[in-house]
Amino acid sequence: MRCETCHLSYSESDPLERRRHRVFHDQFLRGIPWKPWKNERVLATGGGFRVVGVDRSSPKFLRVRTRKLGDLGNVETGFDCEIFSEYSVMQSALVSVADDRGVALLVMEPVQFVWTGRWEDIPRNRIPARPVPRKPRRIGCSFLWVHPRWRGRRIAAILCDTACRLQHVVREDMPWMPPFTEEGRRFLQVYCPKRVTFGWQEELRQFFASPLHLAGETDPEFIRE
Ligand SMILES: CC(C)(COP(=O)(O)OP(=O)(O)OC[C@H]1O[C@@H](n2cnc3c(N)ncnc32)[C@H](O)[C@@H]1OP(=O)(O)O)[C@@H](O)C(=O)NCCC(=O)NCCS
Ligand SMILES: [Zn+2]
Repeated sequence: MRCETCHLSYSESDPLERRRHRVFHDQFLRGIPWKPWKNERVLATGGGFRVVGVDRSSPKFLRVRTRKLGDLGNVETGFDCEIFSEYSVMQSALVSVADDRGVALLVMEPVQFVWTGRWEDIPRNRIPARPVPRKPRRIGCSFLWVHPRWRGRRIAAILCDTACRLQHVVREDMPWMPPFTEEGRRFLQVYCPKRVTFGWQEELRQFFASPLHLAGETDPEFIRE
């Protein structure tokens, strides 16, 4: 059977699968269990939540929790790649914790190409991104997700502000890595109304950055090029 709430398919007659569903269902509704840890790196607090930093120097259990949070967020966004890997040496993450649950995630990774400009100046076709020096590394945001129960409380904005503070950049210079969901693009247009920066890991990814794709649509003409 398939649960109408969390959409997981499982067999009612198998106790293991029933348990797996119970755990997933609970996390779907409330987030990933996140008990405080004594050496936690708390980077911001406010409104009943705290922001915890996770990177390759963090213990494995924190990185595993972060991967699970990325998987949970991606149930909604449906990107066809892993959002955060506990084995990655390049990725770092900011996690919002509320009521002992991880409820929001921002993932950061290095970018090698950037485009910066006003929304109305985004080129209609291939975006002419410019390469950035490898050192010091330029870090962008590859994923942002807030659990539906916690939206509209400025959690995304605080995660982004914290990322900018860590990277010593103003929000207009923080590279956002396409593709975006419709919701993500609307949030970005509010967060960076005047000027925005997009970032890519390789030149090829520019292909996925047509303005239509930024709007969450696919331009068949463009793909054929
Ligand atoms: C997009 C998302 C991260 C926003 O999270 P959030 O915590 O609700 O956002 P905030 O409360 O910090 O919003 C900050 C500002 O952006 C605005 N905003 C947020 N989401 C918006 C949306 N979908 N459309 C228009 N404005 C939006 C808010 O109104 C607020 O404006 P204000 O500063 O004038 O008050 C969240 O809706 C989400 O996780 N969506 C699903 C996952 C997703 O699409 N991620 C993006 C992947 S590219
Ligand atoms: Zn369920």
